[in-house]
Amino acid sequence: MNKKLGVKILGTGSYFPDKVLTNTDLEQIVETSDEWISTRTGIKERRIAADGEFTSDLAYKASLEAIKSANIKPEEIDLVLVATITPDMFFPSTACFLQKKLGLNSVPAFDLSAACSGFVYGIATAKAFIESGLYKTVLLIGAEELSKITDWTDRNTCVLFGDGAGAMILSASQQDDNVLSTFLGADGSYADLLLMPGGGSVNPSTVETVNGKLHSIKMQGKEVFKTAIPKMAFAAQKALEFSGKNLDDIKLFIPHQANMRIIEAVAKKMGIPMEKVFVNIYKTGNISSATTITALDEAIKTGKLNKGDLVELIAFGGGFTWGATVLRV
Ligand code: UT7
Repeated sequence: MNKKLGVKILGTGSYFPDKVLTNTDLEQIVETSDEWISTRTGIKERRIAADGEFTSDLAYKASLEAIKSANIKPEEIDLVLVATITPDMFFPSTACFLQKKLGLNSVPAFDLSAACSGFVYGIATAKAFIESGLYKTVLLIGAEELSKITDWTDRNTCVLFGDGAGAMILSASQQDDNVLSTFLGADGSYADLLLMPGGGSVNPSTVETVNGKLHSIKMQGKEVFKTAIPKMAFAAQKALEFSGKNLDDIKLFIPHQANMRIIEAVAKKMGIPMEKVFVNIYKTGNISSATTITALDEAIKTGKLNKGDLVELIAFGGGFTWGATVLRV
């Protein structure tokens, strides 16, 4: 009898646009201060995509890096999955635009929408496709241009978000099983607390939706904050339990980077020392589905994670959605 297929993580990559927007720059745009943003969120700067630089362009550059680090030929990829809430267009999918840029003609490609939990949802999706034997080598992306759906007159939200993309190549393996566990959750009764209301079937685009700024992020920050902490800790504990590992086995925890105070509260609630928690929010801001994968890529590149180490990604976002995954890098 054939052994159950495992999932091997072959490589990762990331890409950030060149333009840096600092808190001091934001002081010129809205009534805010570096002091308020730093102390309330931990963010100092974020990257912003250029005009004419699309989500699929960021995804493309991150993909090239991941393909190189995986040491595969692009033609080996047989499924392209893009987690994003800021697609190039409503349709076709950003995955299709990316597929074309990579020259992967005919390979299936689709987007996945789970807001800031998108990449963790993507890992569970890629794992299921690979374990079923349906696809062998998956290119999974988290890519966002949140700057394009930001209301630059709303100081409650415009200081929080940024742009970037991360990529991972996962492949079927008889020997390795690098995705030890996944745990996902969602509760649509919280939908109104974090959303972009305009442009869909509820509020089709009109002059009124544009003037009413319905095509940008609306968030009730305090409520989101309160729910994020217990849900992230719960997801992290569940994925840990499913992996058969304990806190001490995990070399590094990578929580979604939305607010430094949330990251610290989750670590405290779980009893994890901050030395084992990866933080890069100060230079990225919140980049939704691109957050955990770009952080993972940075942790690998900077030697915070070495081959064979266990890492846990923990996510929370609009929907609400949440999830966690234990990986061996
Ligand atoms: O990625 C998905 C998940 N997203 C999140 O997890 C975000 C969760 N929420 C948060 O991170 C925080 O709630 C925020 C950072 C958004 C806000 O922090 P807060 O401590 O909850 O502040 P607040 O909304 O209660 O506002 C406190 C004060 C208010 O002034 P008053 O009413 O007390 O006079 C705000 O108007 O701070 C004011 N304020 C600002 N002041 C300067 C809000 N934004 C700003 C700003 N600069 N940018």
